[in-house]
Amino acid sequence: MKIIGTGRANPAKIVTNAMLEEFLDTSDEWIRERTGMTERHVISNEKLEDLAAEAARKAIEDAGITPEDIDYIICSNVVNEYITPGLSCIIQGAIGAKCACVDVNAACSGFIYALDMADDRIKSGKAKTILVVAAEEPTRMVDWKDRSICVLFGDGAGAAVVTEGDALICSRLTTVSKTECLHYVRTLEPTPYITKQEESKPMFMNGREVFKTAVLSSSRDIRTLLDKAGLQPGDIKYYILHQANMRIIESICGQLKLDMSHFPTNVAHYGNTSSASVAILLDELNRDGKLHKGDKLLLSAFGAGFTTGACIIEWTK
Ligand code: COA
Repeated sequence: MKIIGTGRANPAKIVTNAMLEEFLDTSDEWIRERTGMTERHVISNEKLEDLAAEAARKAIEDAGITPEDIDYIICSNVVNEYITPGLSCIIQGAIGAKCACVDVNAACSGFIYALDMADDRIKSGKAKTILVVAAEEPTRMVDWKDRSICVLFGDGAGAAVVTEGDALICSRLTTVSKTECLHYVRTLEPTPYITKQEESKPMFMNGREVFKTAVLSSSRDIRTLLDKAGLQPGDIKYYILHQANMRIIESICGQLKLDMSHFPTNVAHYGNTSSASVAILLDELNRDGKLHKGDKLLLSAFGAGFTTGACIIEWTK
């Protein structure tokens, strides 16, 4: 496959670190030093499906196609107001497409899993042009009284249109079941037969454990892919990493002995937008004219599961 268009949409409400200081025992200094974040876009009166559809429309426009040209939609999403139908079905109706749709939940790695699935579907001849959307509202999963977690997240949507091509040089997906260090559990409707104990709780995260696992696994994925592609770290124009924490990105950069010019970031302004983060950053680079034909990009993300996804893509637009 190759990427022919990108788009993004973020909520209007911007929550600065100073605004968090008003109701949490935290400080702008602590948040900036530990995470690199200064502000994040947080859903208030918007619906995630509207942001997802807006990102999709922009990607379709950027690709120079129409919704009728799309023959499959994959949406990466962890939560939204609907348990069912999938967000991809809602996006399909909103943009006026007619194709089959499916949602994937690979947590923050989901956009890369979705790109990989899109590549498989195109290779198998089952689809020609696929819309991949990553739309997330992690701010609805966390306890806003818990300073150790709510400051980290933001909401948003990113999208890419992909079609036949050979720009996906290689990819790597991994999963190690490790639910204890990062999870979010909700109760379902009661029935007359439920006898087990159930409890809804906000997202739980062992931050230090996730930090270590993220740096190790992302660095490993990057090295594996560089070896597979026969490339040196410096051959990659941009490492488009999951924007979870500036210190994680800097640690990965240090492991590769590169300077930060290869590591564009936007975590300062968006926070961690889960699987949307790589898609949003890709769109920013595209729209800012920073991507040129022939550039090699390495996308890498990690998330609950524990999942990781990484791929090397040549920019062909
Ligand atoms: N403001 C002020 N103090 C805070 C705080 C906040 N928002 N959050 C936590 N603290 C305090 C803690 O209570 C602790 O205080 P103590 O020493 O008195 O007990 C202290 O800061 C250090 O906490 P700790 O959790 O050890 O900090 P840390 O350096 O590990 O940074 C994270 C915390 C969450 C920023 C960091 O672990 C991280 O980024 N982990 C990865 C998270 C991630 O990427 N998640 C997404 C996965 S997809």
